[in-house]
Amino acid sequence: ELKTGKPKREDVITGSADNNVSDYIYEKMGADLHRQPDHPICIIKQAIYDFFEKRNPGMFKTFDDRYPIVTTHANFDEVLVPKDHISRSPNDTYYVDANTVLRCHTSAHQAETLRAGHPAFLVTGDVYRRDSIDSTHYPVFHQMEGVRVFTEAEWTAAGADATALAEKDLKDALEGLAKHLFGDVECRWIDAYFPFTNPSFELEIFFKGKWLEVLGCGVMEQVILDGNYKPGHKAWAFGLGLERLAMVLFDVPDIRLFWSGDDRFLKQFKAGDLSARFKPYSKYPSCYKDMAFWVSPEFSENNLCELVRNIGGDLVEEVTLIDNFTNKKTGRTSNCYRIVYRSMERSLTDEEINAIQDKVRQQVADVLKVELR
Ligand code: PHE
Repeated sequence: ELKTGKPKREDVITGSADNNVSDYIYEKMGADLHRQPDHPICIIKQAIYDFFEKRNPGMFKTFDDRYPIVTTHANFDEVLVPKDHISRSPNDTYYVDANTVLRCHTSAHQAETLRAGHPAFLVTGDVYRRDSIDSTHYPVFHQMEGVRVFTEAEWTAAGADATALAEKDLKDALEGLAKHLFGDVECRWIDAYFPFTNPSFELEIFFKGKWLEVLGCGVMEQVILDGNYKPGHKAWAFGLGLERLAMVLFDVPDIRLFWSGDDRFLKQFKAGDLSARFKPYSKYPSCYKDMAFWVSPEFSENNLCELVRNIGGDLVEEVTLIDNFTNKKTGRTSNCYRIVYRSMERSLTDEEINAIQDKVRQQVADVLKVELR
């Protein structure tokens, strides 16, 4: 009775006053990049599934088609996200209506999957976040959630206390995963905070001369497990971003390439092959436009980026604040943003960019209620 498949438009873009989902976002739904065998996002997913299958044969059940529209209860409350946490704000999350969102993380499925009785699972899906625009951020990306539950018999047999066993198995599994994907890399653990795990960690790997954050994880908060599985158990959980891993591993320089559908990109990857390295086929020239305005109290950069994306689509490569000052007398603040346009597929004409930029300027003034300078 769980819903699957591509949502209907009217189930995403509703008449609710709280709805902040655009057609641009709706059009991305149901693409299922993580289920196309030769797509780099799916190749990474499969490599992770293979790793866990080899480490613990038959243990992890995998889910790839959980419905991306979830309740705020599932997305936030069930994983203990505080009522005043910024991730709940409509500036950060896409709301379908007041009680329904496009999931902003696969952690939205932890509780329901535990309730269904699964002691170990991997859930992969598209997640949605309002954010800034640059080569590594896209409003839709893919995450995988992993959960493993331990019984009392397991920590007794290990001669460890429950938390120690969960933490040890978690770190051992994820370090093994990092080496499975990236070769013999150095790993380090950073203390972190997530509302749903305690203790919480981030894994970093040393790759091509830099420490890179790979994932977040920790020992599941006991109330989540007790309330949705059964008391007397212990669990770990992790969540990782597939685009991030794929960009690092396959040398993909811009996150939009995953969505381009361009054969010159897709042809470079093959199911089961982790050794592919993306060879750029040509970088088309970029073009930038600067835009300065007096901000209003309600102004937010995420709203600006959303607006620019809705007009310029995937031609928008980056939006950056390049200058900002406050007039001492009037107290008004001026922001200057640079919008960089570039297509991954072709050369752009001046006319085309000017038309987009004119529309952006007009809507920025009309919709964001700022005063252009
Ligand atoms: N949901 C977290 C995120 O999106 C990742 C995470 C999952 C961290 C599970 C800990 C445990 O950043």
